[in-house]
Amino acid sequence: MSGVFIVFEGVDGAGKSTACRMAAEALRARGIQTEVTAEPTHEGIGAFIRSGSAGSISQRTESLLFVADRNDHTERIARMLDSGATVLCDRYFASTVAYQSAGLAGDSTDRDWLISINSDFIGRPDVTILLDIDPEVGLGRVDTRGEEVSKFENLPFLRQVRENYLRLAREYGFQVVDASGDRDAVLAEVMAIIDRVV
Ligand code: TYD
Repeated sequence: MSGVFIVFEGVDGAGKSTACRMAAEALRARGIQTEVTAEPTHEGIGAFIRSGSAGSISQRTESLLFVADRNDHTERIARMLDSGATVLCDRYFASTVAYQSAGLAGDSTDRDWLISINSDFIGRPDVTILLDIDPEVGLGRVDTRGEEVSKFENLPFLRQVRENYLRLAREYGFQVVDASGDRDAVLAEVMAIIDRVV
């Protein structure tokens, strides 16, 4: 039996992790075997990316690392799906296209190249849910978490990332949810989308 593969995307602070966790709780409460996973992963290449050990590298090199992490991750996701689990994945291929094609410190990467390096490695999600939010609101949420702010968490950059996501949503048929509302309203919309595929 093969499970259902659901991806969450959105700018930093859109609420992906919370939505994943709450959706997982709701599905498990119904007796549905559910796995939550995320990129960058916390293993192998993903752990290397998160550690910052790569130092100052070009966006092209960084893009290749994200895709290498995704390749290993996709194999693990395939095993979870084979076991019949519903997989909720916090970020997937659209993150690389949306983030790495947005200019950061004058260094941006060609969108078509980003799509092409992903194409050989990715699985096909049953649905991708884009939690859409004004990055100013998203960054406000990140601020209140008191976490270390990453180089990606700046407003002009994230505005471009949001536009890139909305374009991908049109091209790839992502389900777009307005993530500016309160948590329960967002979750209700997310669950309505999940119910159509689970
Ligand atoms: P994030 O989802 O914020 O991880 P966590 O909440 O666990 O710290 O991801 C970390 C950052 O990595 C985020 O700012 C987006 C960025 N990122 C990319 O730029 N490209 C990618 O392909 C991925 C997966 C993430």
